[in-house]
Amino acid sequence: MKILDIQSLNMNPYVKISKEWMLVTAGDETKHNTMTASWGAMGVIWNKNTATCYIRPQRYTFEFMEKGDTYSLCFFDESYRDALTLCGRTSGRDTDKDQAAGLTCAFYEGVPYYKEASLVLICRKLYSQFLTRDGFVDPAVYEKNYPADDLHKMYIGEIVAAFENE
Ligand SMILES: Cc1cc2nc3c(=O)[nH]c(=O)nc-3n(C[C@H](O)[C@H](O)[C@H](O)COP(=O)(O)O)c2cc1C
Repeated sequence: MKILDIQSLNMNPYVKISKEWMLVTAGDETKHNTMTASWGAMGVIWNKNTATCYIRPQRYTFEFMEKGDTYSLCFFDESYRDALTLCGRTSGRDTDKDQAAGLTCAFYEGVPYYKEASLVLICRKLYSQFLTRDGFVDPAVYEKNYPADDLHKMYIGEIVAAFENE
């Protein structure tokens, strides 16, 4: 594992998150769950380096995000596309995704992440809040994305560690 200085991260979040996708993994050494996400953000707020993800409440991962204060965002090489597709199409409620996807869970100070990831961001929740219907300035965006009114919860996490697996 090679710990990275966040200032020297050389990546395009629009490609990394939206096109390559990421795994959001939460829980602890007793039980964890992971899911694929392609919506998110990286930036700065409150003078902290942050990563933001958006989780719908029906995800099993949501329960783990709510229970704990830490989680990881893992990014992978293209060779893991099938694994990420599986983690985005099945639920940990009825599938052992680590086994099905061939991923190896490890822990960084108790936070679950995957050994196969090329880049790992360990995050500590700073702020979480459900998006609200009345916040949408353009109602078409709400209607297109929330026909079931299952608005995402937003999690802004401080990036407390970033590393590459070697
Ligand atoms: C490419 C891709 C991107 C996704 N992005 C998100 C996302 O940003 N937020 C979200 O709530 N679900 C997203 N999903 C859906 C979850 O990954 C999916 O519902 C998953 O099965 C949830 O697993 P869980 O029930 O074990 O948590 C995405 C799925 C795919 C395939």
